[in-house]
Amino acid sequence: MSATVVVGAQWGDEGKGKVVDLLAEKSDLVARYQGGNNAGHTIVAGSETYKLHLVPSGILYPGTLCVIGTGTVVDPRALVTELDSLESRGISLDGLRLSGSAHLIMPYHVALDGASEMRLGRFSIGTTRRGIGPCYQDKAARIGIRAQDLLDPKILVRKLEIALELKNEIMERIYELPRMNAQEIADNLAPVAARLAPFIADTSLLVENALRDGKSVLLEGAQGTMLDVDHGTYPFVTSSNPIAGAASTGIGIGPTRITRVLGVSKAYTTRVGEGPFPTELFDSDGTRMLERGNEFGTTTGRQRRCGWIDLVALRYAARLSGFTELALTKLDVLSGFDRVRICDAYLTRDGEILRDFPYHQTVFHGCTPMYDDLAGWDDDISECRELKHLPAAARAYVETISQAIEVPITLIGTGQGRHQVIDTVEI
Ligand code: GDP
Ligand code: IMO
Ligand code: MG
Repeated sequence: MSATVVVGAQWGDEGKGKVVDLLAEKSDLVARYQGGNNAGHTIVAGSETYKLHLVPSGILYPGTLCVIGTGTVVDPRALVTELDSLESRGISLDGLRLSGSAHLIMPYHVALDGASEMRLGRFSIGTTRRGIGPCYQDKAARIGIRAQDLLDPKILVRKLEIALELKNEIMERIYELPRMNAQEIADNLAPVAARLAPFIADTSLLVENALRDGKSVLLEGAQGTMLDVDHGTYPFVTSSNPIAGAASTGIGIGPTRITRVLGVSKAYTTRVGEGPFPTELFDSDGTRMLERGNEFGTTTGRQRRCGWIDLVALRYAARLSGFTELALTKLDVLSGFDRVRICDAYLTRDGEILRDFPYHQTVFHGCTPMYDDLAGWDDDISECRELKHLPAAARAYVETISQAIEVPITLIGTGQGRHQVIDTVEI
């Protein structure tokens, strides 16, 4: 069998959790391949709402293997809190596995994330302050701590000492933060290590074996394309690669294993944190999206910035990940607008019209969106389950998007609930 990647097509929070949960029902294994607890993936199942940060959105289905892959960064304490919370709600963790090679977020990573944001002042990135960037920095610098280090207290202390030699200097001299002690961190981690040890495994082998046995595998992205450290709106990005290609390295399987790439986009756009956002709205249309879409961050509770859909960015996302299909979520939020707007091109400061995303930051920062206006619709679509039940204007909106990005839209979100969806749409 082959693997499917579910990837955020915008700046995160597109509804990946809901889409993965839907597909997980028919999957044998669900794996996260990058990011950490900066992610917040919401699943609304009946009267229950789950907000997952590290655990893959397949955990609600008993018997599904759920892998936290090598490319993720894991705050061990945050993971234990999440596991306790899931268990207290009766969710079985039997299928959970944590890659022994995943890097761990240490207390100094969290401290340095906050201190670095403070120091950047008005140039700050607006990170989630979960220590994501500093942890990926140490991974690249080869002074990181990995999940497997939890299994050997002596090695753990030694590695912490090596990392802290440098970190303590930076914390004390640059940020005026208190120094940290390796033994103390290791001692505090001991109960966490004992709790996580049974989950630590060779997850690359596990996923490969599942594929060989003909199992269906789902690879769950966190964040979104425009937050990709290489291809996003740098420097206002996260420190990992959410795009589909990274699923192969983040899990440890060959790229030829991936045959299906499902991009997820809202029917409009949102962004949390700082950074450019061409279609951002500052008027009553934006307020309406914010209120009707309940656009507040799942992880930090911050208000999300809202705007019309941006097809220049979406085409770019489709190119970077090779979308074979797209899920368009939250179409219900657009009910009741007189007209709906689609940004299909940017106008540069020099008067050039761009349909392709500009590679140069200065050009991008000077771009204004060019809109096509389409008729709006008033009807409540939250009970629609088939394309033909959608108002004609809503259908035209979906079709226009699909044609403009040349990707079939196979799933449409019509509400928060698990079954509020129009599935297997042929457009
Ligand atoms: P993720 O990070 O991509 O998993 O997305 P989040 O969970 O952070 O944010 C998406 C929000 O939209 C969550 O509150 C979802 O429950 C909600 N949501 C997802 N799909 C739909 C939809 O089709 N309609 C509505 N109204 N809400 C949706
Ligand atoms: P999910 O998986 C939306 C944003 C932060 C900030 C930038 C860098 O729920 O879609 P970081 O803490 O990663 O160093 O912050 O990235 N960000 C997200 N925005 N959804 C997310 O995850 C995000 N994870 C990080 O707001 O702008
Ligand atoms: Mg989210």
